[in-house]
Amino acid sequence: MKIIEAKDYQDMSQSAARFIIEQVNRLSAPVLGLATGGTPLGTYQVLREDHARNKTTYKHVYTVNLDEYVGVSPDHENSYTFYMKKQLFDHIDIPLSHTHLPNGMACDQDAECSRYEALIERLGGIDLQVLGLGLNGHIGFNEPGTPFSSKTHTVELTQSTKEANARYFDSYDAVPSQAITMGISTIMKSKQILLLVSGEKKAGILAKLLTEEPNEDTPASVLKTHQDVVIIADSDALSIVKERGMAF
Ligand code: F6R
Repeated sequence: MKIIEAKDYQDMSQSAARFIIEQVNRLSAPVLGLATGGTPLGTYQVLREDHARNKTTYKHVYTVNLDEYVGVSPDHENSYTFYMKKQLFDHIDIPLSHTHLPNGMACDQDAECSRYEALIERLGGIDLQVLGLGLNGHIGFNEPGTPFSSKTHTVELTQSTKEANARYFDSYDAVPSQAITMGISTIMKSKQILLLVSGEKKAGILAKLLTEEPNEDTPASVLKTHQDVVIIADSDALSIVKERGMAF
């Protein structure tokens, strides 16, 4: 794993956006795996600004998102579909037909999970997967204990994840209790992975993932077994790692 230290959130966002733009410009039909949440907001802002200023084109780009809530309509402001349109897709020239998220409204969730898994394969796999890091070490919505062999599946969100996401809803009780997420093996098949980590509150889990052997209680620790992972973390997120004098 290669770790790049960013000064702060803004610097992390700039570096991450540069990284993504490089792949977008280099590949003829890049498949980007995208994340939602607070961490990539700044990155998406830089991508929007860059598109407006430098006319980077996304006409040849395909996207697959990590996850979507179950039972939340794509038009609802709390859906990840809505988030992606608002933060990125509505501001760049990507054809909406090239953008994909799991359908959280599907009647048959198992069939939807298989469809999503097959879709990723049909696209030729993910070239660059962007990840955020959950406070409990989750990636996508793969909570501690998820088998590393998991494919796209429906999950019950843990209390810690619901609490962390409650800031986007009217109340804790309004947070959906289930989501469809790419599995860990789905994520690990990506050719390259970009993990973004920002803030002091992520310092403990980042240090844990860097020190532990890969284990299913810390889902993100699986990334140590991938051949091409880049972590862009800001100084606050790296504070414990640096305190302990760990080399990176
Ligand atoms: C989002 C996702 C989650 C988040 C993680 C960190 O699509 O899959 O794994 O990346 O919960 O969330 P933030 O960035 O809000 O701290």
